[in-house]
Amino acid sequence: MYQLGNLFGILTAVLFGGAILNFVVKFVNRKWVTKLPKESKFKKTYMEVMKFLVKNHRFFGFGAAAMMVLHVVLQFIYKWVSFTGIVTAGLAVVTVILGGIMFKAKKRTPAMLWAHRGSVILLILAFIAHVVTRI
Ligand code: HEM
Ligand code: HEM
Repeated sequence: MYQLGNLFGILTAVLFGGAILNFVVKFVNRKWVTKLPKESKFKKTYMEVMKFLVKNHRFFGFGAAAMMVLHVVLQFIYKWVSFTGIVTAGLAVVTVILGGIMFKAKKRTPAMLWAHRGSVILLILAFIAHVVTRI
């Protein structure tokens, strides 16, 4: 059963990665892809992939949170209560709430975006600590 718990941990991380790509694809687009000629086939495909990732961003976030619950429950029962895991989970909840607030807001402010991005940076650090130390 604990292998399943680990698998859900990996799935959580993969879906977080999908949500984080929201930033990466837009950044790469701004820096390089917009400069490509209109006829570029690569540009066309890139835009489609980017649209998909941006449009479905919140579902990657919610999906990660759902996988996280399964991971936590199984690790609780079959392994141990991980301190760094709890910190990571707390930051994930904060990130999802901040994302939800921004999603629902009538007007999105830079402060909202930076709060959401800031909690993601802390989340990445906590996640690395969680997987490296296993404490
Ligand atoms: C966003 C939250 C979390 C993510 C993304 C996450 C992800 C992961 C990943 C990728 C692994 C490594 C699995 C492997 O090597 O096969 C792992 C291990 C582990 N996680 Fe989490 N985790 C999270 C939260 C938690 C929480 C809250 C707990 C507390 C119950 C927890 C307990 C554990 C334990 C005990 C291990 C060690 C498994 C081992 O060494 O065999 N995790 N986690
Ligand atoms: C825990 C998982 C999540 C992570 C890791 C994450 C990560 C990010 C990142 C890095 C950005 C910045 C993109 C940019 O710079 O343009 C962003 C933007 C945003 N996120 Fe999230 N996010 C998560 C969950 C959510 C959820 C659940 C929602 C909504 C319910 C959400 C709504 C938004 C919105 C509205 C934006 C700004 C506009 C946009 O690019 O769509 N996020 N997120």
